[in-house]
Amino acid sequence: MQKTLKKHGTWIGKWTFVLAATGSAVGLGNIWGFPYKAGTEGGAAFVLIYLLCIVAIGVPIMISEILIGRRSGNSPINAMKKSAIDSGASSLWQLVGWTGIIAGVLILSFYSVIAGICLNYIFIAASPNELITSSEQFGQVISSPTNLLIWHTVFMFLTLLIVSAGVEDGIGRMVKILMPLLGFLLLFMVIYGAINGAFLEALSFLFAPDFSNVGTDTFLSAMGQAFFSMSLGMGSIMAYGAYMPKEQEIVSTSFSVGSLDTLVAILAGLAIFPIIFAFNLEPGSGPGLVFVSLLSAFNQMEFGQLIGPIFFILLSIAALSSSISILEPGVAYLAEEEFLTRKQSAIVISILCWVIGIGTATGFNIFSVVDSSGESINPFLNTMELISVQILQPLGGMLIAIFIGWFMNESLIKNEIPQINPFLYSLWRFFIKYVAPLSVAFIFISQII
Ligand code: PFF
Repeated sequence: MQKTLKKHGTWIGKWTFVLAATGSAVGLGNIWGFPYKAGTEGGAAFVLIYLLCIVAIGVPIMISEILIGRRSGNSPINAMKKSAIDSGASSLWQLVGWTGIIAGVLILSFYSVIAGICLNYIFIAASPNELITSSEQFGQVISSPTNLLIWHTVFMFLTLLIVSAGVEDGIGRMVKILMPLLGFLLLFMVIYGAINGAFLEALSFLFAPDFSNVGTDTFLSAMGQAFFSMSLGMGSIMAYGAYMPKEQEIVSTSFSVGSLDTLVAILAGLAIFPIIFAFNLEPGSGPGLVFVSLLSAFNQMEFGQLIGPIFFILLSIAALSSSISILEPGVAYLAEEEFLTRKQSAIVISILCWVIGIGTATGFNIFSVVDSSGESINPFLNTMELISVQILQPLGGMLIAIFIGWFMNESLIKNEIPQINPFLYSLWRFFIKYVAPLSVAFIFISQII
């Protein structure tokens, strides 16, 4: 007998799921990560491979996560458990939900520190320090553990406030405000870049592919980016799927979220690169692209003290609409099992993320190490990212694909997507049974050898 679990509520209105899932997907990964990776991995060739990963792996897994979440209405742990039991499979499949929660806690611990830096940059860009360069400025920001911890605390607190207010009153209400604002600010930045920046150069950088530098690494990086960017393999989308109204169509919704996520990543490139090229800065400067190169452009340009803060507000909003989705699966589990109330669950998990985040905040300064090429690295951040983003997320995605492709009862699946066109259904089955698991297995194997 499966016990009755506490209910969480349902998104109100047809667009709330799309806004919430897009909010989860669109984040630092799109606006900070995608442009710098496109910059370092050779521009359009990376973009093309990334698109392929989104269509062939990302969207099929997103459909699966929403489907499993929606049919149960519960947190990922119980959603996996129910679907497994109802299909006559082992209830150990719930472990996928557990790895997701662990991945979420680890991701949020460092995500919040970086998002905290974005919050800090709203003020830095508004009143630039003319005595130092933007790279010295960045050095100053990350060399102070106290500074990083203050902003990490502010960001974690904002995330906690929204999640503890609940599905409809907290997350649902916030994404209805944050997402249109994000869209507006992003379009403003793109139009600004088109008028004042080197827009054509940016277009050709992002859209004229040069495959001469593409190697397996490019595929690995594009696939990792696709998983991270679409929030897959760790339960965020599954948790949000649990609140999706029954009448909403899963397949087309997944395509919409995948397309919006990709559109935002490309628009972020079109907002950033015209400015970078106009000021003759280096597009391949890596993770410091927005904090160092872009800040130096803002400091030099007319109205930079206005445009700069707008950009960092945009980045912070994107990060916040993602962080709430990272916190949700664990909170939903503790609350539905009635171990704690939703508010208490949110507080407990936020404190856990905050404490682990101290590692990332101090890894930039006290515990930073210098690698063989003389560059300082944050060993804690790198380890957290390796475990959560490079191992647990793809592993979770692969297991979800294997479960729905090979173990879940097909009549249960069809009940959730009754209107699907038979050709599209066969196509999705092919991708979820073979393409997605094999591609992830390929990443793992090539990382090991
Ligand atoms: N998709 C978010 C981004 O691109 O920044 C990050 C993220 C959110 C990762 C939710 C994982 C997740 F479950």
